Amino acid sequence: MDITEKALKAYSNIENQRLKAIVSLLIKHLHACIKEMKPTDQEFEFAWDFMERMAAKTGPERNEFLLLADVIGVSQLIETLNHDKPGQPVGFALVGPFLRADAPFRERGAADMSDDTPGARVRISGRVFDFETNTPIEDAILDTWQAATDGLYENQEEAQPDYNLRGRYRSDKNGTFELIGLMPTAYPVPTDGPVGELLRAAKRPPDRPAHIHFIVSAPGYETLITQVFVKGDPQIEDDVVFTGSDNMVGDFRKDGDHFRLVYDFPLRRGVSTMPKAPIPA
Ligand code: DHB
Ligand code: FE
Repeated sequence: MDITEKALKAYSNIENQRLKAIVSLLIKHLHACIKEMKPTDQEFEFAWDFMERMAAKTGPERNEFLLLADVIGVSQLIETLNHDKPGQPVGFALVGPFLRADAPFRERGAADMSDDTPGARVRISGRVFDFETNTPIEDAILDTWQAATDGLYENQEEAQPDYNLRGRYRSDKNGTFELIGLMPTAYPVPTDGPVGELLRAAKRPPDRPAHIHFIVSAPGYETLITQVFVKGDPQIEDDVVFTGSDNMVGDFRKDGDHFRLVYDFPLRRGVSTMPKAPIPA
């Protein structure tokens, strides 16, 4: 019996059938990968040392393993397999590492940032509605977050007030919402860890195109996790985490000294869930 068969047999008594399937698939495909790759002893040492160094960069505020999954396309692939359906008008996006739990509820039309936050404002309005019936969804919760113009999220920068550029808003009886955000700008993912080494080796720019995150949820509807990119931004194609796509672009229009964006969120009937927030309250 070769090692692959022995290993598969050794894990064949797992009672949880889903867990058994996952472990078996991992053994089957990892063994096939190793047989094709034929890593040297030194390469194997490099691999586990790389993981040790990833662990050293991982804590409550940052997860280098999640970042690796993001930059090799695994996170967005999982999101797409689980949620994207043909004809999906607004795409699903990976959550990313910067969702923080318990963002404050803010009034309709209010800004989600302090007055002295630098950068152009964007007034965002739109409608949350049932994708099949087109009826408005009242009391949907829109949880939004974005980086400051220097590319840093509030938790990464002392100078920003707590929960700056984060907030939760509710839709009204017509399903409409309104808020003031910041005109988003591009910025890099953290590159001071092993994942940064990989990106440099691949000559991949570490930038994420400008975006604003939204999670739109309502009882009885599948939660829509998405990001809004800026229409016409050439960087969308080169998103380091493979999220930017045609069904996530907003038409940000200049209006005097600020911008305006009208953006609707269609929801499908389903189970309302909330993702685990990588950053605790
Ligand atoms: C990642 C996602 C983001 O939304 C972001 O702003 C930075 C990094 C990521 O998936 O790694
Ligand atoms: Fe982001």
